[in-house]
Amino acid sequence: MRITNIAVILAGFLAITGASKAEVKWWQKSTVYQIYPRSFQDSNGDGVGDLNGITERLDYLADLGVDALWISPFYPSPMKDFGYDISDFSNVDPLFGTLADFDRLIAETHRRGMRLIMDYVPNHSSDEHPWFKESRSSLDNPKRDWYIWRDGRGTNGLPSNWLSVFGGSAWTLDQVTGQHYYHQFLKEQPDLNWRNPEVQKAMLAAMKFWLDRGVDGFRVDAINHAFETEELKDEPLNPNYDDSKPEYDSLLHPYTTDQAGNHDVVRAMRNLVDQYDGDRVLITEAYLPYDRQALYYGTPAAPEAQLPFNFQLLDLPKWTAEAVATKVNEYEAALPPHAWPNYVLSNHDKPRLASRLPGGQVRIAAMVLLTLRGTPTLYYADELGAPNVVIPPERVRDPVELKAPGKGFGRDPSRTPMLWDASAYSGFSTVEPWLPVEPNFRALNVATQTDDPSSVLSLYKALLDLRRSNAALNIGSYKQINTQSDVFAFIRQDGEKRILVALNFTAADAVVDLGALRGTVLLTSLMDHSFCNLVAGKMNLRANEGLIVELR
Ligand code: GLC
Repeated sequence: MRITNIAVILAGFLAITGASKAEVKWWQKSTVYQIYPRSFQDSNGDGVGDLNGITERLDYLADLGVDALWISPFYPSPMKDFGYDISDFSNVDPLFGTLADFDRLIAETHRRGMRLIMDYVPNHSSDEHPWFKESRSSLDNPKRDWYIWRDGRGTNGLPSNWLSVFGGSAWTLDQVTGQHYYHQFLKEQPDLNWRNPEVQKAMLAAMKFWLDRGVDGFRVDAINHAFETEELKDEPLNPNYDDSKPEYDSLLHPYTTDQAGNHDVVRAMRNLVDQYDGDRVLITEAYLPYDRQALYYGTPAAPEAQLPFNFQLLDLPKWTAEAVATKVNEYEAALPPHAWPNYVLSNHDKPRLASRLPGGQVRIAAMVLLTLRGTPTLYYADELGAPNVVIPPERVRDPVELKAPGKGFGRDPSRTPMLWDASAYSGFSTVEPWLPVEPNFRALNVATQTDDPSSVLSLYKALLDLRRSNAALNIGSYKQINTQSDVFAFIRQDGEKRILVALNFTAADAVVDLGALRGTVLLTSLMDHSFCNLVAGKMNLRANEGLIVELR
């Protein structure tokens, strides 16, 4: 058990300012909830979730206390990458419903005071998109240049050594014309050529289509891959590679990622969304170190995304108080002055939080996500503490797992059906769902946890409620106040209001010395009553306990 005197350390840290009230935008105050639509709610008994299913569950989401829903792709798609291979950027796949269903979903979302954010996939289309069908049909087709075609060369006959993120070459030879096309992901996901002004126009028109229907923003997929150099230089070997990692990591990617053109594209998107009222938001997906990621905010004169996703806590190799605090402080320091932070702890591409963290830390993670300064994004079913589901080989659907079986890269385990209740298929569907249901669903579900005041779901609700009703937690400044190895403690402040958050990252008791500070406990992550309400002097934290304290 270690003790740190907070009062001594307090003086040494500068507070990082909160948002100024007059300028606070809805997306700064919001918590975003990610829905993987195939797995949220099936309304028509085909084992796959759909838009009407989401509409049916809106009351749950409003009651949970989230503010904005981000829905992963529901566009028409051959589903080779489960919707991230789009064959029409301005429609809904019949599997998910119709445009009328979408209009109803957005109206019902807005009626409950929530916002709706769509996925938008600029880097590639499906190979079944009419644009690509035309493009591949002949060398002189007007849409030839809408995609990236090159002649093979060298000993292996490929245009370059560039690799697909999902493994194998990023080039596929097309027999029709004898040229190769470039695909950063599956061969069924050819990359669009954003250097072509007609592509830009068509893709921005697709964005406009959904803005006109009332969407509140976009999560912009894989933006880091939008451009690659025109010159096809081979990428260098990664000296730190070992084959426990995906093949893609065997190279460094100076010519295919993080190109200046990516920023031009985001600026063009921002320019478009800013023509609409309501502060529509852009959230960009790019796995980058903080200094590179910060560039996606753009500048006040040439803004880009309002929320470039911050994945540093999602990719943290070791979940400890020190590691988390270090990342948070690095992030705060790297942010440009006009930038608003955000945090993501899990998503549909990564193993579930509950399966990544040391035992007992799910509740600490909830507190980390919902008490730090910045917009949190919460992945569906994380509010239940749901773990990865083991997928038997015959049920595997994710192309990443199918391409490299047994290596542990597959994404199916974190994409399984939402756990609603103890009825068959956890209330998700009336038939066997597309991916297996968590075997423990009869105990681990929304209904059971709703009835249990100490459940993980009850904790999430309490945290969301506190964050919403408390400006210090929502938009206040952030200041770390200790350097203990077992506890991460910080103060959020708005005006006179100061909230202390102290998080014990270990399975042993810990003590934090509050010095002269005193306060009242607002919430324990353990959701019980076994703590002393008034705290002063040495504050005890139980194993894996986080406390939120209103300071006097
Ligand atoms: C993004 C998505 C991922 C998808 C890929 C290709 O990384 O999050 O699910 O497979 O882009 O679109």
